[in-house]
Amino acid sequence: MNIILMGPPGAGKGTQAKKLVEKYGLTQISTGDLFRKAVKENTAYGVISKYFTRFGYLVPDEYTVMMVEDYFAEHDVSNGFILDGFPRTINQAVKLDDMCKKFNFKIDAVINLDIDKNKLITRLSGRRTCIDCGSSYHVVFNPPKVLGICDQCGGELQQREDEKEDAVAVRLHTYDQSTKPLIDFYRMMGKLIEVNGDQTMDDVFKDIENSLNK
Ligand code: AP5
Ligand code: MG
Ligand code: ZN
Repeated sequence: MNIILMGPPGAGKGTQAKKLVEKYGLTQISTGDLFRKAVKENTAYGVISKYFTRFGYLVPDEYTVMMVEDYFAEHDVSNGFILDGFPRTINQAVKLDDMCKKFNFKIDAVINLDIDKNKLITRLSGRRTCIDCGSSYHVVFNPPKVLGICDQCGGELQQREDEKEDAVAVRLHTYDQSTKPLIDFYRMMGKLIEVNGDQTMDDVFKDIENSLNK
């Protein structure tokens, strides 16, 4: 099963992807996580993407597509995968189609997490991310056992750089301009599954499971 998880910043893509990984053994491919890792390790993709990710702009398609293609070339995804945060433009979706042909896989479903913009700010401002393993928490909705410390690895929890107010505004605007049109694109292809993202994490997951079972 190969899935695309879509939704605005803070909708819960990463949270639900983790649950799908745990339950079905799928591989999570989060372009945001890949860029953050590249920035941390100062690789070629890190040098290119640093400015864009920091201020909330999309990394230019050519680099993003190349990075995803590299990922498929270097990893075994035969158990199935979840694309978290890719594609984010129509052009990326077209390039993904080319990759499907090249690597001989198909996308089974596109899940769109639908949620009101006002709720996103609360989610993003309360998120805390582990600087070592990338696990994500929320100060109210999903707090760690010990304040400021990762349950998984004991690492320090911090806010992401792009959670500052200006960057959040850019991300929301960019989503409306570039990514939202993809909803209709996948609806027209008959692959879109709409899920109400404004529920508890477990209820969102139940809805995702139910719709995938259909
Ligand atoms: P990326 O890392 O993908 O960021 P994003 O899309 O803005 O989404 P987030 O990761 O912030 O949110 P999420 O939906 O994963 O929510 P989460 O589960 O964490 O991208 C970052 C940057 O990389 C981009 O701005 C761009 O620069 C670049 N980039 C990435 N992909 C690209 C691409 N394809 N093309 C070009 N550039 C690209 O949840 C958020 C918080 O809410 C957490 O604290 C969580 O605990 C909490 N929460 C989750 N679900 C619930 C719930 N149901 N109830 C209550 N709280 C919840
Ligand atoms: Mg995420
Ligand atoms: Zn950790």
